[in-house]
Amino acid sequence: MKVKITKPNTLKGTISISGSKNTVLPLIACAALTKEEVILKNVPSITDVMNMIKIASYANAVVDYNPKTKELKLQFKKIKNKILCEETTKIRASYYFIGSILPRKKKLIINYPGGCNFSLRPIDYHIYAFKTLGYKIFENREKIYLKKKNIKSKKIIIKFPKQTVGATINTIIASVTSNKIVEIYNYASEPDVLSVIEMLNLMGANILVRDEKIKIFGVKKLHGVTYEVPFDRIEAGSYMILASSIPRSKVILQNIDSSQLTKIIEVLKNMNVKISCQKTNLIIESPDELKPINIKTGTYPDFPTDLQQILLILLLKAKGKSTIIDTIYPDRISQIKLLQENNINVYVENNLITIEETKQIFVKEGEALDLRGGFSLVVLAMLSSYLIIDKFEIVKRGYEDIENKLKKIQITIEKEN
Ligand code: EPU
Repeated sequence: MKVKITKPNTLKGTISISGSKNTVLPLIACAALTKEEVILKNVPSITDVMNMIKIASYANAVVDYNPKTKELKLQFKKIKNKILCEETTKIRASYYFIGSILPRKKKLIINYPGGCNFSLRPIDYHIYAFKTLGYKIFENREKIYLKKKNIKSKKIIIKFPKQTVGATINTIIASVTSNKIVEIYNYASEPDVLSVIEMLNLMGANILVRDEKIKIFGVKKLHGVTYEVPFDRIEAGSYMILASSIPRSKVILQNIDSSQLTKIIEVLKNMNVKISCQKTNLIIESPDELKPINIKTGTYPDFPTDLQQILLILLLKAKGKSTIIDTIYPDRISQIKLLQENNINVYVENNLITIEETKQIFVKEGEALDLRGGFSLVVLAMLSSYLIIDKFEIVKRGYEDIENKLKKIQITIEKEN
């Protein structure tokens, strides 16, 4: 799908932020831990969620999603132990079904997960955790085979070499209904992880979060729940950056919990962007001139890797030289080739990205190569006069109703042939 995005004089209007992609995906898998019904509210209608729902259905769940009310009902009375549908290879989050199906089945075969391939994304931490929890594993690049072994020890300790969102969540999901006590050290404390813990505790799990560890006391079974998916802080951050890209713009974002955006607000304020909060609204007012900055991405509450590519484009308009180091995914630089081909001043040396102010930017055509790189091209269109983006469907994997949201702030978006 090709679209043409045309820049308005200023960005003005209000956008409502959707439920979080990276939170709802594991919550859908969590529903497989119980035979009772799980109702999720504020579920965004995006391709990744639709793929996750298709996997749930394939695994035998009764599923009912209403894109108008954003309510998703899931009930896994029965569950399969061979999850080999095509959708598992399209999204990374399909691996959360390993965590939630294993406690109900002794064996599982599942396709190797897919998702944005902006760098090598191994799943060795997940494999380490499942092995430590007592599973025998065989994997190749296509499939993963898991089989339960009997382990005597009542207490299991898992210590990750790096903080990892996915493997922390998968370990929690796989442990809640075991007959063990599981302790996770060096865990990730992203809001996505905390929401999974909150929902599982409402379903009858016993999970404690302490400073240095997450402690899970396994329970026999979980029950159904109704849970509201919190707002998507990465979607919010993306529109905050977009709103800052044309001088004298004013954009209001609704459904925000600004406590999750502290670092993003700090970074944009340091660039001279005016940001104020009114209850669940965030008001972004862009300055005439942006200041350069030096940032490093990190685990929450640091600046998220998911916004690095998008911020990079904004920095092209800052007066002076800026730098970015992505400590989580240093190879997440899919759009830089396009920038360099168009004589834009961005350089990469080892892990350091240097961005210099580029006065004249006119890129006519680009391709979305991954989700966040794709959204970064929307910001690039604001620095150019227009931009034709190919493979825009990749952006729609994670940004609900993006065409309408862009229109709400005066951006023209048209389908191209
Ligand atoms: N890592 C390993 N081995 C593993 C798992 C992770 O080496 O088995 C490394 C990664 O290569 C990375 C670091 O550990 O250097 C942290 O990765 P993490 O596990 O936290 O990432 P993830 O769970 O695979 C989720 C999001 C990503 C987001 C990262 C970081 C989902 C479905 N994906 O990925 O979101 O970038 O956390 O916050 O929740 C996106 O939304 O565009 C996206 C890619």
